[in-house]
Amino acid sequence: MSERLSALARSMQGSQILRIAAEVGELIASGKPVCNLTVGDFAPPQFPVPAKLSAGITKQLQAGQTNYPPSTGLPELRNAVVAFYKEWLGFDVPLDGVLICAGGRPVIYGAYHALVNAGDRVVYPTPSWSNEYYTPMLLATPVEVPCGRESGFLPTAASLGDSLRGARLLIVNSPMNPAGTMFTEEQLGGICDAVLAENARREAGGSRERPLFVLFDQMYWMLTFGGAKHFTPTGLRPEMAKYTVYVDGISKSFAATGVRVGWAVGPADVIKAMGDLLAHIGAWAPRAEQLATAEMLADSAAIREFHKTMLPALEERLNLLADGIAALKREGFPVDSTPPQGAIYLSAQFALNGKRAPDGTVLQTNEDIRRYLLHSAGLAAVQFQAFGAREETGWFRLSAGAVSPADIKALMPRLREALAGVK
Ligand SMILES: Cc1ncc(COP(=O)(O)O)c(C=O)c1O
Repeated sequence: MSERLSALARSMQGSQILRIAAEVGELIASGKPVCNLTVGDFAPPQFPVPAKLSAGITKQLQAGQTNYPPSTGLPELRNAVVAFYKEWLGFDVPLDGVLICAGGRPVIYGAYHALVNAGDRVVYPTPSWSNEYYTPMLLATPVEVPCGRESGFLPTAASLGDSLRGARLLIVNSPMNPAGTMFTEEQLGGICDAVLAENARREAGGSRERPLFVLFDQMYWMLTFGGAKHFTPTGLRPEMAKYTVYVDGISKSFAATGVRVGWAVGPADVIKAMGDLLAHIGAWAPRAEQLATAEMLADSAAIREFHKTMLPALEERLNLLADGIAALKREGFPVDSTPPQGAIYLSAQFALNGKRAPDGTVLQTNEDIRRYLLHSAGLAAVQFQAFGAREETGWFRLSAGAVSPADIKALMPRLREALAGVK
């Protein structure tokens, strides 16, 4: 019998994170105590959206803002993004360098389609969010750059090495999903220099090679802790504006993952191509949401007021996790974490690989460790393998957006007991 679905559809892999989330959901439904650190989302009772945003959406809907928006986005929001970048990030963006979409995902999809031909090389670090799904989906050739703890699980010019030669797109993300780490100024500056050097080489050689672009995913840039500072390619090297497409939106910064407003910022020719492509997909943010977001972005005082509550609440949860793990490490357990820096994540290591669980089974892989910690301690986390990492070294993403401080405090004694049970 002939295949009913396309080769692409048959090659698609389901998200490991969602598979794990389903298993966790079943355990919670069975009444077990679980600290759910899996999904990169917010529980609205813990992290509501700004009141100004939800009131604004309601007001705009009631005012009849219910028809199609322009496919590039409403001018009110595009102009608001221009002003927002000037005020908060310190660089100028032309109006035709802004495209409004239904969240960050269509921006990524549109940028891939606007820039990458089948077979082109796309470079991305591992672990990283979703690149291992996007790259094959768009028939690009993946070039993975494994990154470890020493560089915050982020690439450096040195670790990228020769991978940029002949590549079409480099994808980086800071603050980073899954690690919760951020580029230092030197680290990002070095990468920008490598990109500029590669493009200078292509131009100087008179070759017909198309330029190397950077997809700079800064979806979490407003969520930083402990004095960590966010840097942008354009802020560090203004020449990078020609080669950089920014992925951004309100999903994380305003805890508004379900509201679906995002934007691309980039060179006008690329933004135009992305807009033309996405117009056929209809991945627009609804009018009411766009207008309410424009009002929110224009109100710096409201943003600061909102973050005055949200950021300490996130930081408290991340610190509780980091401090709890540090205490276990001091007791001699093979655990570790990075310090909270940005996003809603913490990287944590439970280096139990090769050790024996109380039932006698040997925990070989991170998936074995994940299941053991879930069922013995009610610790629900996602291993870095779900983000394309290959090394079985016990590193996990802990996501703090859907738990309360009490959930984390209750977890720690259960985690201690589970770790003590492993020999
Ligand atoms: C790094 C990163 N970029 C982009 C997105 C997509 O954001 P959105 O939910 O707005 O599509 C996410 C969502 O988890 C993310 O973690």
